[in-house]
Amino acid sequence: MVVRSVVVGYGSYLPEKVLTNDDLARVVDTSDQWISERTGIRQRHIAAEGETTSHLATHAARRALESSGLTGKDIDLIVLGTTTPDETFPAAATRVQERIGADRACAFDVQAACSGFVYGLALADNFLRLGQARTALVIGAETFSRLLDWTDRATCVLFGDGAGAVILRAEEGTGNSSDRGVLSTHLHSDGRQHDLLYADGGPSLTQTAGVVRMVGREVFRHAVIRLATVLQEALDANGLTVADVDWLVPHQANKRILDSTVRKLGLPPEKMVVTVDRHANTSAASIPLALSVAADDGRIRRGHLVLVEAMGAGFTWASAALRW
Ligand code: ACO
Repeated sequence: MVVRSVVVGYGSYLPEKVLTNDDLARVVDTSDQWISERTGIRQRHIAAEGETTSHLATHAARRALESSGLTGKDIDLIVLGTTTPDETFPAAATRVQERIGADRACAFDVQAACSGFVYGLALADNFLRLGQARTALVIGAETFSRLLDWTDRATCVLFGDGAGAVILRAEEGTGNSSDRGVLSTHLHSDGRQHDLLYADGGPSLTQTAGVVRMVGREVFRHAVIRLATVLQEALDANGLTVADVDWLVPHQANKRILDSTVRKLGLPPEKMVVTVDRHANTSAASIPLALSVAADDGRIRRGHLVLVEAMGAGFTWASAALRW
């Protein structure tokens, strides 16, 4: 018998305000056509003034609790993947903890940029498998709009705000890939690629948060190679093939990256969940948001094999295989 971290609840939240490509074309020299063709993005949600990452995360967490039938008191561990915490410290996860009444939990943030949710999932899975926690809340939440240079058309058109969450509970499994729950996680980073994607600020460097700086074409090139590889790593680790995959839920960076990834992997494109058109790139929030969309509309069902992958600044990149 082994311990498996089974998804027993999920939820998501998007801020009310929608910013379309046409809206953006009134702010910077761009067009709906350029953005749609290069990225697949049509709109993004933007947090209201005063609405912070922990607010978005709390909404998603409450919905995840509701769907699981659990309360904050049942949660032992809260891991929040974010690049845009409310404050430099303490962790935004502790704000969520207070608001959902998870008094017994330990709570902390994980900084792995767009890979933050998969890193958080891996951490929580390890806590559960080691018996250090029984029930974990894993959140990805971002107010990336706050880190953008709204005069830089090459970056400000790509991102949006949002949050998503899952609740994992330790259950007994047999140890083979037919078990429900997280089957494997694979995490990677390469600090040599710092200059291709970073925020040009921080508490120690400039005492400001900074804004996103990116060499888009290079990020694109690395993403396509690394994402297909880390997905294959997930399949190999479980003795699975592409034919076993029910759904791929990728980090939603850019439709062209997604298309190249499924092509390289040899997965039929209709098995990929795509939300980048509506949400844009919400960094660590994009995977749990997409999971929620596909579970809500009935595509992802109990027993389905779901692969997730992400890549982001650092570089960091990661995958997880889980049976819903
Ligand atoms: N509107 C109109 N024109 C634009 C815009 C815009 N929003 N942004 C850039 N351009 C122009 C450039 O100025 C350039 O003009 P020039 O030829 O006159 O100099 C031209 O478009 C081409 O610019 P490139 O940067 O070469 O365009 P590219 O085809 O590479 O597309 C893009 C840019 C969409 C950013 C692409 O490189 C990309 O998607 N990269 C991946 C980046 C990414 O997804 N990052 C997210 C974080 S990491 C992650 O999540 C995986």
